[in-house]
Amino acid sequence: MSSPALLQPLRALFALPNDDPRKTLAVAVTLCLACSVVVSATAVTLRPLQARNAALELQREVVEVAGLGDSGLGLAQAFERIETALVDLGTGALVDDADVATYSYRDAALDMARSTALEDDPAGIRRRPDHMPVYLVRENGSLTTVILPVYGKGLWSTMHGLLALAPDGRTVEALSFYEQRETAGLGSEVSSPRWLGQWPGKTVIGPDGAPVIEVAKGRADPNSPDAQRRVDGLSGATLTANGVERLMRFWLGAQGYGPFLARLRSGGV
Ligand SMILES: Cc1cc2nc3c(=O)[nH]c(=O)nc-3n(C[C@H](O)[C@H](O)[C@H](O)COP(=O)(O)O)c2cc1C
Repeated sequence: MSSPALLQPLRALFALPNDDPRKTLAVAVTLCLACSVVVSATAVTLRPLQARNAALELQREVVEVAGLGDSGLGLAQAFERIETALVDLGTGALVDDADVATYSYRDAALDMARSTALEDDPAGIRRRPDHMPVYLVRENGSLTTVILPVYGKGLWSTMHGLLALAPDGRTVEALSFYEQRETAGLGSEVSSPRWLGQWPGKTVIGPDGAPVIEVAKGRADPNSPDAQRRVDGLSGATLTANGVERLMRFWLGAQGYGPFLARLRSGGV
C-alpha cells in the first residue's frame, strides 16, 4: 500500500467535525504518541550526559573523602592523584588487566556471570559483584588512605557510600553517603555532615579481622569501653541506621572486602 493510501483513513478521520468522538479520540491518541516520542528521544539523548554527570559526581565524592577536596587542585587533577584499582573480592587480590575506568559495580551486580548470589545478605543487595573498585591514595609511594565503595538497603532505598580507611585497614578516616532516598529530615540524615562527622577515628575491624562497628540505638555512650567502635544512631530513623550497620558489617566482612583488608594489614597492597 502506498503512503498516500495509508494516510487516506487518517485524512478522513481528521475531516470529521470537531465534536465527533472519533476525532477527539484520534487527536488524543496522536498527541500521546507524539509526546511519547519526544520524551523517549529526550531520555535517550540525555543518557550519556547523565552517565557523565554521575561519573563526575562520584569522582567529586572520592576526592572529598580522600581529603583532597581542599587541596586547591581541580577535580580532574585531584582525581588523577588517586589510583583506581579493581579487587577480586574472593581472593582480596588486585585484578591487573581490568579496565577500571569503565567498570560499573552496579552493572556487574545485575550480571549473573559477574556476581554471586548471597544466602547471608545483611546488606539486602541479593547479589554481590565479584569485583569491586577501590581507590588508593599514596604519598611519596606510601599508601595513606584506602577508599571502599559500600552499599546496602536503608528503609526505602539502596544507600551508596564511600568508606575511607587508614592504611591499617581498621580505622575510619571519612565516610560519605552520596546516594540515598531515605526520608528528608529522618533517614536522609545519614548523609548529613553532623552524623558522618562522628565516624573518623572509629575502629571498624577487631583484632581477629572481623567487623566490630556498631550503630547505637540513640546516643553511643562515650564512656563505654566500646565507644571506639560505636557511633550514635539516627533519631527517629533507627531502620536507616540499622541499614548502615548491616551494610558496613557485610562489606567489611568475609563476603565483602575482608580478604582485601587482610592483605592490606599484612602490607600486601
Ligand atoms: C512518613 C514516614 C517516613 C519515615 N522515614 C523513615 C526513614 O527514612 N528512615 C527510618 O529509619 N525511619 C523512618 N520512619 C520511621 C520508621 O517507621 C520507624 O518508626 C523509625 O525508624 C524508628 O526509629 P526510632 O526508634 O529512632 O524512632 C518514617 C516514618 C514515617 C511515618
